[in-house]
Amino acid sequence: MTVAAPAAADAAASANTVFEPRLVAFVCKWCTYAGADLAGTSRMLYPPNVRVIKLPCTGRIDIAFIIRAFSQGADGVIVSGCHPGDCHYSAGNFRARRRWTLFRDLLDILGFDLRRFQCAWISAAEGTKWAATIRDFTEEMRALGPYTAMRQLAGERGAPVAPRAAVWHGRPARREPEPSADPATRARSEALAGAIAAALTDKSIAAAVGWTLSPTLRRPRPLWITAPEEADRLGLPGDSDGNLARLLKHPQLTVRPLGMVVRHAEMQALNVLRQESQVAEQDVVLFAVARDGRFLGRLDWDAAVAALAADAEGRVNGFSPEVEAEVSRVLALPSAERWDYWRTQFARCIKCYACRNSCPMCGCEVCLADKNQPQWFPTAADGPGNFAWHVIRAFHLAGRCVGCGACQAACPAGVAVNLLGAALARSAAGHFGHHAGASHQDLPLQAAFRTDDRESFIK
Ligand code: FES
Repeated sequence: MTVAAPAAADAAASANTVFEPRLVAFVCKWCTYAGADLAGTSRMLYPPNVRVIKLPCTGRIDIAFIIRAFSQGADGVIVSGCHPGDCHYSAGNFRARRRWTLFRDLLDILGFDLRRFQCAWISAAEGTKWAATIRDFTEEMRALGPYTAMRQLAGERGAPVAPRAAVWHGRPARREPEPSADPATRARSEALAGAIAAALTDKSIAAAVGWTLSPTLRRPRPLWITAPEEADRLGLPGDSDGNLARLLKHPQLTVRPLGMVVRHAEMQALNVLRQESQVAEQDVVLFAVARDGRFLGRLDWDAAVAALAADAEGRVNGFSPEVEAEVSRVLALPSAERWDYWRTQFARCIKCYACRNSCPMCGCEVCLADKNQPQWFPTAADGPGNFAWHVIRAFHLAGRCVGCGACQAACPAGVAVNLLGAALARSAAGHFGHHAGASHQDLPLQAAFRTDDRESFIK
């Protein structure tokens, strides 16, 4: 391929005359790469500032690549591939288009300068368009100057963590919880325990997960039982005590069918997992509990969704009014202040991955953060490492996060992790009418597409 050597851009930059932006282009090999090749063989002139990285399809352009390019000093990134309808793998670019929409929104939420991330459709016959696009992009980035925000991030170490009031430091001797003094609560709790004991006795479930009151934590904690006589240790869940659906992925909890105490948050999470074929209807037996503590009974899937629907009242895309109010406040800030807000938030992260481990949706067999051959992003709890972790995680949860707040409750450093989820949930609802976990029949947001999905931002 005949493209001017990027070393020339480095040479110009070091000569310290005119600022020469460093640009990275992630392109599909079938269309845009061939278009760039055509520009080269046709001897079209365009600035040598761009490093071209070819991939099999736009569907293979992972946002981790884009973040890595920016954290390693790129001043601008462009992604490009076949025009809609021309993808060699049928729909890779339709899916990419949806992901680019969400990723741009995520960058905007963070206060990132959106002009530095551009998208284009360029076919193999459009050498002229490739040359013009790179010329315009280079000019624009040259005028903007170096992207100092990302470079500052590269020099940042994690800030000292302000300890939260309630941090659990030890493993005290186990004590049984006090039974509730309230007769109505006791009756509800006994009804739930009775239903689960009956299911364990008639072997319609092999085990059950629910909640027991932890006197140490002073709130319910998950409990896993396999025998009917253990059911009397079960109690009612609180309003925001994590999400039991995460236990479906626990490597030691593999028995099925599994009885599960479900509230609205668990039901939404199960809907998402079922959309993604990560759980089957027959794997889980549902014991539904309303937000006010009423035991609604052992219900089949659709009945549980319907019975718990009232608990969504007052919540926006599953998120509480308090979270929504904070998201509105942050999104109303000017972009530079938004960037500072998130930088401060991410600087507190100690990379304990409690947010991931408490999340019902984070269930990859090997998380991207744990892969080191190749290492997809820095694992240190510093500026680039924390930025990459939170952005990639938020993006992986776009259209999937149900707003249960388990991540926020688990974070020992008080990073506002669920705000990113709430902001992206707005984006998913606004662009695609998608509400995570509303029904198990919906298609997963990032695996689906419509041929008329918006693309006004793509050149
Ligand atoms: Fe070019 Fe899919 S093959 S976008």
